[in-house]
Amino acid sequence: MHPLEELRDAALREIDSAADEQALDAARVKYLGRSGSISAWSDKMKSLTKDEKPVVGKLLNEARTSVTAAIEHRAEQLRSAKETADLANIDVTLPGTPHEIGTLHPLTQMLERSVSIFRRMGFAIADGPDVEDEWHCFDALNTPADHPARNEQDTFYLPDGRLLRSHTSTVQIRTMQSQPPPIRVIAPGAAYRRDEVDATHAAQFHQIEGLYVDENVSVADLKGTIEFFLHELLGAETEIRFRPHYFPFTEPSFEFDVRSSAIKSGKWLELAGCGMVHPAVFEEVNRARGDQAYDPAKWTGFAFGLGMDRLAMILFDIPDIRFFAQNDLRFLRQFA
Ligand code: PHE
Repeated sequence: MHPLEELRDAALREIDSAADEQALDAARVKYLGRSGSISAWSDKMKSLTKDEKPVVGKLLNEARTSVTAAIEHRAEQLRSAKETADLANIDVTLPGTPHEIGTLHPLTQMLERSVSIFRRMGFAIADGPDVEDEWHCFDALNTPADHPARNEQDTFYLPDGRLLRSHTSTVQIRTMQSQPPPIRVIAPGAAYRRDEVDATHAAQFHQIEGLYVDENVSVADLKGTIEFFLHELLGAETEIRFRPHYFPFTEPSFEFDVRSSAIKSGKWLELAGCGMVHPAVFEEVNRARGDQAYDPAKWTGFAFGLGMDRLAMILFDIPDIRFFAQNDLRFLRQFA
């Protein structure tokens, strides 16, 4: 055996039996380091004869390659052994870090409860943007240019002429634009008005808009739908009072109030505006659609806009509407 081969075998034995990283590194330095014993053979090459040179050169290469590979192999073995040992030290019975579980916002709870009642009556969910154009918010809803609701004192206008929707009735229009009758949708969402902010008025509030369009829909259907909803939400003994009112986009129009044992004060609570969809709204939708899908001679419908904030305040006994948007955990955690 050539001395280089003996050297290589000695190196391989030492590497295989290296007990840890330090021992392995020592072996690497001893054989392959700059002044290691295998490296020393490179220096010897110069002094060899022409015949010896290729033989030793080949052995030298071979020794380097196999020793390097052996070092890598052993290093990997040591690494995985260490990993297994580390894992064995983990106590899987120790308690973990608990996750903080949030709670649903009281308004979200209110909306979800309401939405699930309407879903049982076959209403689907519709949606529209909070940033709207004047046409969807007013013109298409038969609201003339000089109507006070359009005033800058009441509505938030953006510099480009768009606005923050002042009611969710915009979704009535968007829904009728995108699908033909019959329609049975509710649209829960935020609306915005430039009210003087106090305990019962916020610049942002929440509504559930409803729209029902079919043949032969009457005020009786509107009342029946609202009654079913309120009896489910507040209990069967809840009283409901419809009062005549005015909205440009419904005719006739009403507001309704509720009185219920679920409402501590025992007072009537004004809850919503509603009415039968005004034929002028159907006409304007037809004009925008470019068809006669909503022929007012054939279709009738009702719409309503339920205020959610005051209802949530009363049911959850919340004294100030501003709490809803203050993100105070001491407030929010009470509704778990
Ligand atoms: N959009 C009206 C409001 O916010 C409520 C309403 C909705 C009235 C639908 C009639 C029909 O006051």
